[in-house]
Amino acid sequence: MKNMFRGILILNLGGVSAQDYSKIVRKYNVFSHVVFVDGVSAEKVKELNPEGIVLCGKTSAEETLNIDKQIFELGIPVLTIEDGTSVVASLFGEAAKAQVATEEENIESQLTNFMFDICNCKKDWTAENFIDKSTEETKAQVGDGSVLLGLSGGVDSTVTAALLYKAIGSRLHCVFVDHGFMRKGEPELVKKIFTEYFPVSLTCVDARQRFMDKLKDVNDPEKKRKIIGAEFIEVFKEEAKKLGKLDHFAQGTIYPDIIESGTAGAGKLVKSHHNVGGLPKELGFTSLVEPLKYLFKPEVRKIGSALGLPDEFVLRQPFPGPGLSVRCLGILTPERVDLVRESDAILREEIAKAGLQQFADQYFTVLPGIRSVGVKDGERVFYEAIAIRAVKTTDFMTADWVYYPKELLNTISNRILNEVPGINRVLLDISPKPPASIEWE
Ligand code: XMP
Repeated sequence: MKNMFRGILILNLGGVSAQDYSKIVRKYNVFSHVVFVDGVSAEKVKELNPEGIVLCGKTSAEETLNIDKQIFELGIPVLTIEDGTSVVASLFGEAAKAQVATEEENIESQLTNFMFDICNCKKDWTAENFIDKSTEETKAQVGDGSVLLGLSGGVDSTVTAALLYKAIGSRLHCVFVDHGFMRKGEPELVKKIFTEYFPVSLTCVDARQRFMDKLKDVNDPEKKRKIIGAEFIEVFKEEAKKLGKLDHFAQGTIYPDIIESGTAGAGKLVKSHHNVGGLPKELGFTSLVEPLKYLFKPEVRKIGSALGLPDEFVLRQPFPGPGLSVRCLGILTPERVDLVRESDAILREEIAKAGLQQFADQYFTVLPGIRSVGVKDGERVFYEAIAIRAVKTTDFMTADWVYYPKELLNTISNRILNEVPGINRVLLDISPKPPASIEWE
């Protein structure tokens, strides 16, 4: 992809701002590529052939970066932001001719002036162009080979499947593992999409009992996550073996995964690059196919829509890999997980009816494991409580709680109390992050 769209090369000196600049550039349909500046040669930059270079980010006093001065002598226009300005000054002296942008609020206009007035960037970073180029790239990589993809039901793996299906059709084999912690209707939706919209070769594995057996009596949230992750790989491996030899392995890695893994922009490891735990090596795949690896999440959604995936799928809120299991505090039983699933379905249905899907960025119900006294049909009951969690956030690192209109909350509460047997109290979580996290486990 980086050789197909020229755009802006963002050379990052360190820190996380490069990702923000990269997103601004792309907002204007210009490709941007984030690379950690340390050790990058002028040759490499020439090969990438960008229309312009942005040198940005923060250097730390303890760190000595290996910066190739010749990068700035290639005749490619350079814009410096943050410590980029002093770095260029130290390389070439104070009179260096690099454009300087220092005012935070002016950065977007500085970037657009730079892109269009100085670099004459082409606005070619569009969903249609991306799909065309990605299809070409996949065909070149895969040849007449076959590809295995694990479908989690999330947006990234779904869009990966749709994109690969366009490129290689029936040579794409998908495995979907139902671990039993999906939201109501989701396993059915995945099956529908990949039989009706994109008729891939799809293996659906009903592993609900298997997961529940492994999680019996497990209370600790981290243990739950580990068990689910490990079991997922086990099931997947078994299914992959049953399918016989497939040539390539695909996964829905997106750009922040790469940037945050330290190879592109942050300069240091923020979190490990998620990967299906060493699976490709063990099963002897020739290569890894990651068609979304240069895309940010909103771009993934756009590509999904352009490929014809329904809005109900493409616009979905984020959902943790271990699913409802981390929203059901304490011991997991199918009955307790159903309490979360049913109440969550009511919450989502009523929010959709009210047309307020965009009011919060993430909204769901949680079973905190609290029992309280109540009266049902004239009898004393001692049932579980359910909590409503809804947050507004831009980066999921910090979040504010949102307050839905009282009438809507009232309808949701009444429906949960009437329709979900075993719940006699509905709570509203009004905690910001931090100190609370978005999920409860
Ligand atoms: P927290 O709870 O840390 O959540 O404030 C931040 C965002 O991350 C999601 N999340 C997860 N996603 N696996 C995932 O794929 C997980 O184990 C996991 N835990 C939290 C959460 O839904 C929120 O969007």
